Amino acid sequence: MTNIFDNLADKGSVFKDKQYLDHRFLPDNLPHRKDQITGIAKYWIEALNNVTPSDVTIYGKTGTGKTAAAKFAMKQLEEAASNKELRIRTEYIRCTDYTTEYQVIAKLCQQMGRDVPYRGWTKAEVVNTFRDILKSNLYGNKMILIVVLDEIDILLKNDGDGILYTLTRTDNVSILSISNYVDFKKFIKSRVMSSFRDREIVFPPYGAQQLVDILEERSRLSFNLETLTNDVIPLCAAMAAKEEGDARYALDLLRTAGEIADEKESKLVHGEYVREAKDKIEHNKITDLITTLPAQQQRVLEAILNLTQEKEEITSGKLYDTYKEVSKGDTVSYRRIFDFINELEMLGIISTNTISRGRGRGRTNIISLQCDNEILEDALYSI
Ligand SMILES: Nc1ncnc2c1ncn2[C@@H]1O[C@H](COP(=O)(O)OP(=O)(O)OP(=O)(O)O)[C@@H](O)[C@H]1O
Ligand SMILES: [Mg+2]
Repeated sequence: MTNIFDNLADKGSVFKDKQYLDHRFLPDNLPHRKDQITGIAKYWIEALNNVTPSDVTIYGKTGTGKTAAAKFAMKQLEEAASNKELRIRTEYIRCTDYTTEYQVIAKLCQQMGRDVPYRGWTKAEVVNTFRDILKSNLYGNKMILIVVLDEIDILLKNDGDGILYTLTRTDNVSILSISNYVDFKKFIKSRVMSSFRDREIVFPPYGAQQLVDILEERSRLSFNLETLTNDVIPLCAAMAAKEEGDARYALDLLRTAGEIADEKESKLVHGEYVREAKDKIEHNKITDLITTLPAQQQRVLEAILNLTQEKEEITSGKLYDTYKEVSKGDTVSYRRIFDFINELEMLGIISTNTISRGRGRGRTNIISLQCDNEILEDALYSI
């Protein structure tokens, strides 16, 4: 008997190796980021002269290659240092995974071979252990540590600037911070700013032609020869250039278009699949957002959807009445509904518009849906 996997594997695919389109794959070559990578290297080269480099900050919108460029520079520095028998370490921390100063320092200690628990010690104990590792060894050789704090704004917002205070006051430590926001320094108090004299490097959004170059390089690794029609890459690039020059989105479009070709058992990826890919990605994004909302919030959305389909003007009063019907008695208070409305508006699922009813009749908030009715319906009723 044939194995079901044989059948599926035999189907053929436009892909040669899909892993090269994965977000986690780090390419050996990053087109159009040479200046930024050289910018980092110009500061880090100090480490090769046994001097602790300046702190560096990288700014740029999502998908502009910040993480990729930082990891690339880390790899290059480690390579250069290994040829010179220097004690240089680079450590990468994603601050969405380690959201407090304690966690970051504990993680750094662990990476450098000390067994520090993630809770239970005092902060001082963890910091002392960390500083101890960095002390010069018996022969007076110091170790230079470069800490990359990716998405640092999350850490600063969550736990304040203590992490920067500690790291800037530890000898032989240099920080590379990565942020999506130019104004992330508003989270840093002046006592810390005074010792955090960072050099800034900006990552501008990619233009359409730059995205074409990036996609061409990646498609050579990931797609079989002559499977992409001529318009596929320019279309992905143009659509992503509109979305603030986001390379991640461009790669997502390309991968999804390829998956659509495979689903249709087509030997070629056509331009129209890229348009389908756009809808599919959009669809998945909204679906993910909605399916992870708390149950009561989903009932509020259901009420908004019902009223929209009945073409009613949605005021908060009317919304609350409908919400009570759909939630069948298991309801939250009228006041809580306003919090829900705010949160849904922040997520971009709905918008509110205040209108005046005329003299003496006050003002009313009118709510409207900002996403496709059908996508919302699918998401709400698929749970
Ligand atoms: N110049 C480039 N060449 C090749 N691939 C790139 C380039 N820039 C970005 N990429 C790819 O695009 C994706 C997004 O890049 P990256 O994760 O570095 O963006 P980011 O600026 O860190 O975004 P975010 O702010 O959302 O974290 C990754 O898969 C990365 O490999
Ligand atoms: Mg990143």
